[in-house]
Amino acid sequence: MATDYDDVYFSVDNGLAESRYVFIEQNQLTERWQNHQTASYVIAETGFGTGLNFLAAWQHYQQFLETNPDTALTRLHFISFEKHPLSLNDLSQALKQWPELKEFGDQLIAFYPQIMTPGCHRIAFHHPVPITLDIWIGDVHHNLPEVPNISGGLVNSWFLDGFAPSKNPDMWTQKLFEGMAVLSAEDASLATFTAAGFVRRGLIEVGFDTQKAKGFGRKRDMLVGRFKQQTAPQSLNSRLYSRKGIRAGEDIAIIGAGIAGVSLAYALVKRGINVSLYEKNSAAALEASGNRQGAVYPLLSPNQPHVSEFFQHAFNYHHQVLAQLAQQQLEVEHDYCGLLQLAYNEKSQAKNLNIAQAGYPKNLVYPVDKATASELAGVSLDDEALFYPHAGWVNAKQCVQTILKAAEQSGLLSVHYEHELSEFELENKGCRLHLGSQVKQHNNIVFCQSHHLLNLPQAEQLPITPVRGQVSHIETTPQLSKLSKVLCYEGYLTPANQQQHCIGASYIRNDLSLELKANEAKSNLKAIRKCQPQPWNEQLKLANIPGRAATRCAVRDHFPLIGQLPNLEQLFSEQYQQQWQEVNPPSYGGVFVAIGFGSRGICSAPFATELLAAQLCNEPIPLKQSTLNCVHPHRFWNRRLVKNRPLALNYREFKNR
Ligand SMILES: Cc1cc2nc3c(=O)[nH]c(=O)nc-3n(C[C@H](O)[C@H](O)[C@H](O)COP(=O)(O)OP(=O)(O)OC[C@H]3O[C@@H](n4cnc5c(N)ncnc54)[C@H](O)[C@@H]3O)c2cc1C
Ligand SMILES: C[S@@+](CC[C@H](N)C(=O)[O-])C[C@H]1O[C@@H](n2cnc3c(N)ncnc32)[C@H](O)[C@@H]1O
Repeated sequence: MATDYDDVYFSVDNGLAESRYVFIEQNQLTERWQNHQTASYVIAETGFGTGLNFLAAWQHYQQFLETNPDTALTRLHFISFEKHPLSLNDLSQALKQWPELKEFGDQLIAFYPQIMTPGCHRIAFHHPVPITLDIWIGDVHHNLPEVPNISGGLVNSWFLDGFAPSKNPDMWTQKLFEGMAVLSAEDASLATFTAAGFVRRGLIEVGFDTQKAKGFGRKRDMLVGRFKQQTAPQSLNSRLYSRKGIRAGEDIAIIGAGIAGVSLAYALVKRGINVSLYEKNSAAALEASGNRQGAVYPLLSPNQPHVSEFFQHAFNYHHQVLAQLAQQQLEVEHDYCGLLQLAYNEKSQAKNLNIAQAGYPKNLVYPVDKATASELAGVSLDDEALFYPHAGWVNAKQCVQTILKAAEQSGLLSVHYEHELSEFELENKGCRLHLGSQVKQHNNIVFCQSHHLLNLPQAEQLPITPVRGQVSHIETTPQLSKLSKVLCYEGYLTPANQQQHCIGASYIRNDLSLELKANEAKSNLKAIRKCQPQPWNEQLKLANIPGRAATRCAVRDHFPLIGQLPNLEQLFSEQYQQQWQEVNPPSYGGVFVAIGFGSRGICSAPFATELLAAQLCNEPIPLKQSTLNCVHPHRFWNRRLVKNRPLALNYREFKNR
C-alpha cells in the first residue's frame, strides 16, 4: 500500500494475473515479438513500483525464447520511470508474494540500485535470460523528455501504469502523453488498466489510436492503443548532438586494449557483435590502465550537475560490472572499503562543504569530523573529511584482464597484440586500417587509444591533452598497515594490498616520458606528509618496484569524448559554418572514439563505453540527453556555434583559452 497515494502497488490476490492480462496480453507481446524483425525491442513503463510488471515481462520473454528459438529478437529492454523508489528491503518483502517469479526476483534484488540518485540506473541482467532494465529515478515528467531517442522512435510497447488517475492526477497529464508520443516507434502498442475518458482523449490527441478493451477480472474496461502519428522533425539541438549507430551484421574494430577498449569490446560482444581488438603492445593494460590500485569514487561537483550525474552513474555501473563478473566466477582484486576526501586546506574545505550541503544520499557521501575520519581510517588524521562508504580501490590491470577474459568467452572477439595502427582511410564498405605491414578492413572502427589518437592526422586537432602521472609503491609499516580507507587529498593513498600501498600521482601536462623519476616519487611522499604531518607517514620507504609512470588523456571539462570522430577539416570549412543549422555536424562515417578519461577512467570507462555500445546498436542509452550531450565529441564546437562565436580555433588555441 502506498499511503501517499492511498492506492495499492498491486492486488495481493491476483496482482500477477492482472499484470499479465493488462500489460502483456493486451499489448499482444507474443504476436508482436513473433513479427519483430530486428534484434532489439523496447518496453517502457510508468511507475516501477515493486517491479512486478518487469518481472512478469522478463519471465514471459524467457518462455517466448523457449518456444521461438529462431526469433530475430535477442535484446529486450525494459525502461521504467519511478518517482519514489522502494527500499531494497520493501522490494524484497513485496516480491515474496510471487514465488513463481523467484528466479527473476532474486536477480532484481541482487542488482537493485543501492544508491538511489536521480537519473537512469542501468542493470544488464544475464540470467536466466538477458534483459536490460533502465530505472529512471525521478518524476516521469522530468525524465521522459531526457530519454535519448533514436530516429524512428525508441519505444515499441508502453505499460501505462502508475496509481489510478483519481489518486495520482499529477502523473496522468497531457504532457506525459506528448512525451510518450515523441519516444514511440511507428505502431508502438500501449496498454493501461484505466479507461478514464480524459486519458483516452489525451492519447488520441497525440497520435495513439486508442480503444477500450475488456478490463481484468471484474473491471469493465481498460485501454489499448497503437501509435499512428509520424515522428516530429529534428530540432536544432538534436541535429547538433545527433548520434549514429551501425547497421545490423556489421563488425567493429577497436584500437587499444586499455580499460576503454576492453570494456567496449565486452559491451559489444554481449550484444552479439563481432569485434577485432588491436593493441600495439604485447598485452592488454600496459599503459594508463595498468596500475595496481586505482581509486574508484565519483567526481561530485554540485555547481556542475552534469559532471556529478555522469560520474555517479559511472561509479554505480563500475560496481555492477564487478558484481556481474563475480557472478561468472571472474574475480577482480578490489576493496570497496570506503574513501575519505580530506579537507586539508581552505580550498578543499570549501569544496567539501559544497558537496556536503548538496543533498546527496548518505550512502553516496557524507561529512565526518576529524575524530570520526581518524576512526574510520584506522590512522590519525589532521582534518575533517567527506566519506564515500561504497568507494574504494580496484586492481586496474586485473580489471582490464578479467573483462577481456569475459569478452573472449563469447567467441565473438579476436585480439591482436603487437598491431600498431599508423593510419586509416575510409572506403565504400567501411575503413582500411594500416597496422604495421598489414592492412585490415572493417565496417566500423572505434579509437580507444587514449592520447595516442593525436598521432592520426584526422584527430590531431582534438582538444585533448596528454598528462604524465607517476604512482609510487611503498612498503607498509606497522602503523600504516592499519590504514583501512583510501585517502584522497592532492593525491591519494590506498590501504595495503600484499604489504604495499599505492601513493600518487604526479600530474605533468604534455610530458610523454615514461621512465620513473626520483623527484616525482619524492613529491608523492611529500604531498601526504605536508597534508597530514603525522607519525605514521614519517618512515615511508619506496618498494622494490618503486612505481609506475603512464600518460593520462585529459579534457578540460572532465568529460570523455564518446561518439563519432568529428571531421575537423569539414567542420572548420566555410561551407559548414554557413549551413550548420541545417546539416548534421560533419563526422567520419563509421569512425568513433572513446577517449579522454583523465584521472578517472578506471571508474568511468565501463559506463562510458556502455553508452557508446548502446548508441552503436541503436538501443536505449542510460543517461539523460542533456548529460549525454556533454560527452559528445562535437560539443566544443557546438557550444561556440550556438553562441555565435567563430569556430576556426585550432587545438592549441582551445587549450590556451
Ligand atoms: C598515474 C595514474 C594514476 C591514475 N589513477 C587513477 C585512479 O586512481 N582512478 C581512476 O579511475 N583512474 C586513474 N587514472 C586514470 C586511468 O588510468 C585512465 O583514465 C584510464 O586508464 C584510461 O584508459 P584508456 O583505455 O583510455 O587508455 P590506456 O589504458 O592508456 O589504453 C590505451 C591503449 O591503446 C593502445 N594504443 C595506443 N595507440 C595505439 C595504436 N596506434 N595502435 C594500437 N594500440 C594503440 C595503448 O598501447 C594502450 O594499451 C590514473 C592514471 C594515471 C596515469
Ligand atoms: C501502482 S505502482 C506501479 C506498480 C509497478 N508497475 C509494479 O509492477 O509493481 C505506481 C508507481 O508509480 C510511481 N509514480 C507515481 N507518480 C509518479 C510520477 N509522477 N513519476 C514517476 N513515478 C510515479 C509510484 O511511486 C509507484 O511506485
